[in-house]
Amino acid sequence: VTALSVASEIYPLIKTGGLADVAGALPSALLRHGITMRTLVPGYPAVMAGIESALPVHSFSMLFGGPARLLTAHKGNLELLVLDAPHLYNRPGSPYSAPDGKDWPDNAYRFAALARTAAEIGQGLVPSFVPDLVHAHDWQAGLTAAYLRYSGKPSPATVFTVHNLAFQGQFPRELLATLGLPPGAFSVDGVEYYGSIGYMKAGLQLSDRITTVSPAYALEIQGPEAGMGLDGLLRQRSAQLTGILNGIDEAVWNPATDKRITATYDLATLSARAANTRSVRELFDLSPDPDRLLLGVISRLSWQKGLDLLLEALPVLRAERIQLALLGAGDPDLEARFKAAAEAYPGEIGVMIGYDEDLAHLIQAGADALLVPSRFEPCGLTQLCALRYGAVPVVARVGGLSDTVVDANEMAIAAGVATGVQFSPVTGDMLSAALGKTRALFADRAAWQALQRNGMSADVSWRNPAQHYAQLYRSLLASRPRSNA
Ligand code: ADP
Ligand code: GLC
Repeated sequence: VTALSVASEIYPLIKTGGLADVAGALPSALLRHGITMRTLVPGYPAVMAGIESALPVHSFSMLFGGPARLLTAHKGNLELLVLDAPHLYNRPGSPYSAPDGKDWPDNAYRFAALARTAAEIGQGLVPSFVPDLVHAHDWQAGLTAAYLRYSGKPSPATVFTVHNLAFQGQFPRELLATLGLPPGAFSVDGVEYYGSIGYMKAGLQLSDRITTVSPAYALEIQGPEAGMGLDGLLRQRSAQLTGILNGIDEAVWNPATDKRITATYDLATLSARAANTRSVRELFDLSPDPDRLLLGVISRLSWQKGLDLLLEALPVLRAERIQLALLGAGDPDLEARFKAAAEAYPGEIGVMIGYDEDLAHLIQAGADALLVPSRFEPCGLTQLCALRYGAVPVVARVGGLSDTVVDANEMAIAAGVATGVQFSPVTGDMLSAALGKTRALFADRAAWQALQRNGMSADVSWRNPAQHYAQLYRSLLASRPRSNA
């Protein structure tokens, strides 16, 4: 089976969040199941600078306002198709926004170009690689199924994965013709979404199968609270929707071989972990007191991630003598409030504003516990890394967090299966209570080590998820021969 994956970011070339990790890990995980996957990505500056052995395979004289080329290239084991369209992608800033934080005004075209190219590859643009199936990720690749559907030509099978329903890609209806979509596409069973063109909506409506990144989130998004306006459509397509958990790349995240941490360790040498804890305390200017619980946070700072609730819970954090090492960036107001907290409580609260992969690894290796208080979380990857690294996850009971952490309640402890602490509902008070409970568990060294060991023994790899995707692809291909949609 050959598959084209379509993603707006991919680790290790360009990353703003977990989507990049997933897009970067999926191809090698699927290879073991006989699936050859190439990934189409936009040619941002970081991508153009990082790819190896690039070769042009197609030229577009005009693609949404300028000439463009399609390159084959690779990065390590990743086989890539890169859309080199300088007028769309050769700019500073993030994949989605300018350095001033505002969305690029031409995002509708930037990601229509990605989707349209994906559709054309699906229909034979690159003769040496004609995929059986196209797997598109999130709104940025959402129009792929629309371009295939409305082309009137034979199409490969399509899978669409929702990584975050909150970002939907909505653009004015007036763009329809410029996007190259026929008038008939603008309908409830096409790309129309509350009077606009919806890229996420199009992907959900027009793809053969929909997946999202945890079973719990697959259920949640069929309800009004997490459905973000799309729950009706998702209920309607419920039979085509499945939740498949993400894994983490065990080569990147392995405490036994990790070059980014002070001391490597595994289940048998857990006490060596303490050297990493010391390093975290030093880097964050925290007092060297091993009896205190060291709580780590590695996160985008946004409403989704619920870290304002941690600010509410600071009195309890301090009363429990818990130290905090927070690495994050995002919302300027949250950044300022955390910096102020660090200034107010030196030695107890350490804050680094920014994005730092090396430091993220060290925090996972050194923190006693890792906090993820998200209001919603499609899957979440940091709690998976935490499990692998023996940092006990303390998480909100939502989405993928509820699917991947086993709460340390009495029964689970007795059964020897607990791996962390969950709290619900997601409020400052319940987070405070969870911090108290975590501190009490930490005081019982045997109980705490049991949590660590259970977590480190959990399978957070891509093995199971890859098997699920492979099954999904094969059953879809069996039910739907290459055809006119
Ligand atoms: P999301 O994609 O919603 O941000 P995930 O948990 O799926 O959440 O993925 C986040 C990824 O980004 C993880 O790999 C995490 O380690 C990383 N990350 C988040 N914030 C930072 C940061 N400030 N510095 C380094 N890595 C970060
Ligand atoms: C999104 C979600 C996150 C998920 C990631 C990868 O960024 O917010 O929960 O882990 O995608 O699927």
